[in-house]
Amino acid sequence: MKYVFSGIQPSGSPTLGNYVGALRNWSLLQGEDRFCYYCVVDMHAITVRQDAEALKRRSMETVALLIACGIDPVKSALFIQSQVPAHAELSWVLCCNTYMGELSRMTQYKDKCAKHADNINAGLFTYPVLMAADILLYQTDLVPVGVDQKQHIEIARDIAIRFNNAYGETFKVPEGFIPKFGGRVMSLQDPAQKMSKSDPNPNGFVAIMDTPDVILKKFKRAVTDSDGEIRYDPENKPGVSNLLSIYTSFTDMSMEDAVAAFAGKGYGNLKTEVAQAVIDELTPVQQEYKRLLDDQAYLNDVIQSGASRAAKHANETLRAVYDCVGLHG
Ligand code: TRP
Repeated sequence: MKYVFSGIQPSGSPTLGNYVGALRNWSLLQGEDRFCYYCVVDMHAITVRQDAEALKRRSMETVALLIACGIDPVKSALFIQSQVPAHAELSWVLCCNTYMGELSRMTQYKDKCAKHADNINAGLFTYPVLMAADILLYQTDLVPVGVDQKQHIEIARDIAIRFNNAYGETFKVPEGFIPKFGGRVMSLQDPAQKMSKSDPNPNGFVAIMDTPDVILKKFKRAVTDSDGEIRYDPENKPGVSNLLSIYTSFTDMSMEDAVAAFAGKGYGNLKTEVAQAVIDELTPVQQEYKRLLDDQAYLNDVIQSGASRAAKHANETLRAVYDCVGLHG
């Protein structure tokens, strides 16, 4: 049996970037010979200040979204991080086996310090260690993530290898699984930037929950260029290339076929076709999401059973780790 683990922050409204780069792939990885752990990482979320009620609500909404995106809570363990204490417990032991130097080189840490200069807390610094604990608790083979998480996967591997060398084989050394395309969906307003829900210009990103009207409007306003030709050339035509990438990923068309299909057509046509492809795929996801949110009893059952399945596996690893380092536990 192979194990898959991934985590998602319960933060606000995920975008097309999150959908293509992560959520959609997560459901595709569910298979006969693989068991998947999908975790809403609320403990990572509190590295920046949160409103308590809003955080609780968003964690549940994220669970609903994952189910709406095709994660089957019977096939996979779908759970909320803070409900499995082993994550915090392993994180402490791993902190004692991680160097300040390697943590201070993390680019996400540096970025977050720049963004939240008034709250540079120790949790922000040890964030990658908690993430390593998430992954290593489940003897994970494969970690599907977007490209921005590559460095975090590397440090999780380094920590696992170091621990195994010091104490004997304890952890499986995980591999990142980064999609060829979709790790990066770019902003519709500034295609040099990654699409982000924290973009101050809401026309830059499409949220998974945007209504069809809003999706169409945002694509119509997407920045392109003035040469008028539809071809894939990310360097010289980043806006058009981003639209083409989104189009291929929502239609499962090859880039060649897509470019051929748009030959001789205008940007206006490309924009409405992309918008339609996105709307067609997101509409059922949105409907299912709304239906699930009306069924809190079901969502509660899902997270309880997810947490207890996860805890069983996690506690086995934690027990072995405590034994290695001499803790009673
Ligand atoms: N850091 C990840 C992100 O911001 C979320 C995350 C936390 C995660 N723990 C994880 C992803 C473990 C993969 C595996 O997207």
